[in-house]
Amino acid sequence: MFQGLYFKPISLWICVLVFILSGFRTISSTCPGVCFCPSITRNVYCPRKNLPYVPNGIPLDTIQLNLNDNNFLNPTISRTNFSRFTDLEQLYLSGCGIEFIEVDTFIDLKKLKWLDISKNRLKSVSDYTFRDLTLEHLFLNDNPGVHISKHAFLGLNTMGLYFQNCALGDLTLEILRPLNGTLKSLWLDGNKFETFNQNWLYLFKTLSHLRIGDNPLHCNCEVAWLFKFFQSTPRVFEGVPAPSCRSPPRLRGKQFSNVTDDDFRCQLPVFKNVDIVFESDKGKLTCLASGDPVPTLYWIKPDGSMEKFYPKMADLSKDTEGVMYTSDPRPTKKSMYQCIASNPAGNVTFSLNVVWPNDDRMQNEPPSKDPIKESEEYPLKVEKEGKIEGQKSEPNDKYISNDVNVTKSSVNMADSREQAKEIRFTLVDIIGAVVGTFLLTLLACVVVFHIFSRNQSRLLYKEQNGLTHSDIKRGPPSRYELDEAENTLKMLDKINRDGTV
Ligand SMILES: *[C@@H]1O[C@H](CO)[C@@H](O)[C@H](O)[C@H]1NC(C)=O
Ligand SMILES: *[C@@H]1O[C@H](CO)[C@@H](O)[C@H](O)[C@H]1NC(C)=O
Ligand SMILES: *[C@@H]1O[C@H](CO)[C@@H](O)[C@H](O)[C@H]1NC(C)=O
Ligand SMILES: *[C@@H]1O[C@H](CO)[C@@H](O)[C@H](O)[C@H]1NC(C)=O
Ligand SMILES: *[C@@H]1O[C@H](CO)[C@@H](O)[C@H](O)[C@H]1NC(C)=O
Repeated sequence: MFQGLYFKPISLWICVLVFILSGFRTISSTCPGVCFCPSITRNVYCPRKNLPYVPNGIPLDTIQLNLNDNNFLNPTISRTNFSRFTDLEQLYLSGCGIEFIEVDTFIDLKKLKWLDISKNRLKSVSDYTFRDLTLEHLFLNDNPGVHISKHAFLGLNTMGLYFQNCALGDLTLEILRPLNGTLKSLWLDGNKFETFNQNWLYLFKTLSHLRIGDNPLHCNCEVAWLFKFFQSTPRVFEGVPAPSCRSPPRLRGKQFSNVTDDDFRCQLPVFKNVDIVFESDKGKLTCLASGDPVPTLYWIKPDGSMEKFYPKMADLSKDTEGVMYTSDPRPTKKSMYQCIASNPAGNVTFSLNVVWPNDDRMQNEPPSKDPIKESEEYPLKVEKEGKIEGQKSEPNDKYISNDVNVTKSSVNMADSREQAKEIRFTLVDIIGAVVGTFLLTLLACVVVFHIFSRNQSRLLYKEQNGLTHSDIKRGPPSRYELDEAENTLKMLDKINRDGTV
């Protein structure tokens, strides 16, 4: 290098010029011993020096300060650490062991454009941390487990926001809303996003660069919009690995560039178990259903009131369980309990319509030992009905559009078949849901018959012994499970899949 300069006079002159200028700079400002401060540039480089804090002697007119890969003693950075460098345009604090950033830490750096806090151990970014800053790039990459507070970005303007490898799964759109309009570049790759709901589209549409690859996306009808967006605006995803699917199993590992519209499907909810326990003064009704996406459950009481049960967020492959307690399981005349399982593919309704026996008649009849016979003798009636409702949705045609009613012994397979052709659900899905609903209904009815018969026996027995109605207490809780129904359902499902139906 120096030998080269000897033989090139122009280079030599430049060298001399730089030397002179650097002399001027040394006179006008200082440079910390451990740092490198090239003249003219007003840059200060102090990376990988194991510095426990921002070193003294950094020129106040520094434009670019690089403190990457040091080892700050105090894991919290605050306003006092940087406020004197009012000319700073670029600040690099990557790999310094920072855990917290106090609010307004950078507020005095009015010219700051480039802020890099990657590869730290950030625990959280609290509300208003970056308010009043107008940045070009804010790097928060490689801070696994960082929690972003709801208003963390309120008051911030930035064109680029980078969240690569932060183990984020719960970053809500709400948090990014303050950046709507200014944000052009967003990195969310290498995180834990399993889905993006369609509201993200308004933000994604405004971006010129987006990375969401390497997330465990669950590719069902709910993210079909994202696939469409990917196809219609390839330039936004240019130059980076395409988003890919982690589940369902048939799409595992497939990139968006290698799947089709038809792969993004949802599945109607299917009831897996219904469990009914009546006690003297309360009843417990349990409903278990699965589907893709995991359904939301509603229990509807005879009086029309409703309880709602959301799926647990943790695992997309789980079922939803709805447990309702009802204080008066002995309603006046007719009681209809309904469990509705609902997801974007549609609603499946499980109805128990119970007609209670007429008290006058009961008193006149002798008790019977045989519950089945007894239930035939008394006007206890259970009507049951399974109902599947579909829904047409805006973003795509993956949702079914059907209305299949299943009553008692008339499961209309031909009907279901027609529906299945119309929509993009497989025949097995529909038949599975229909047959499952029907079977479970039937079994639940048997259970209800049984319970009521038992209760009735007690009632009559005690009445014969001279007790009044108010004295009557029902027996200990009884528990009936429909495991058998589940097994039968599985068998039927298997038969269906084997194509023998
Ligand atoms: C920031 O300032 C605080 C308090 O003045 C100090 O304890 C800490 O070491 C400083 N951090 C850095 C990185 O200089
Ligand atoms: C986001 O910004 C765009 C224009 O930049 C605007 O049309 C849209 O309404 C904004 N959306 C929200 C939710 O603020
Ligand atoms: C797309 O899938 C086919 C087979 O399904 C495979 O051979 C090909 O390598 C895949 N292409 C990409 C880019 O993943
Ligand atoms: C499904 O049930 C929910 C709750 O009752 C209701 O809001 C929704 O409109 C229903 N969807 C369809 C397609 O019937
Ligand atoms: C389902 O039942 C409702 C009323 O219970 C009825 O209005 C509707 O037409 C039925 N649908 C079919 C497909 O039978």
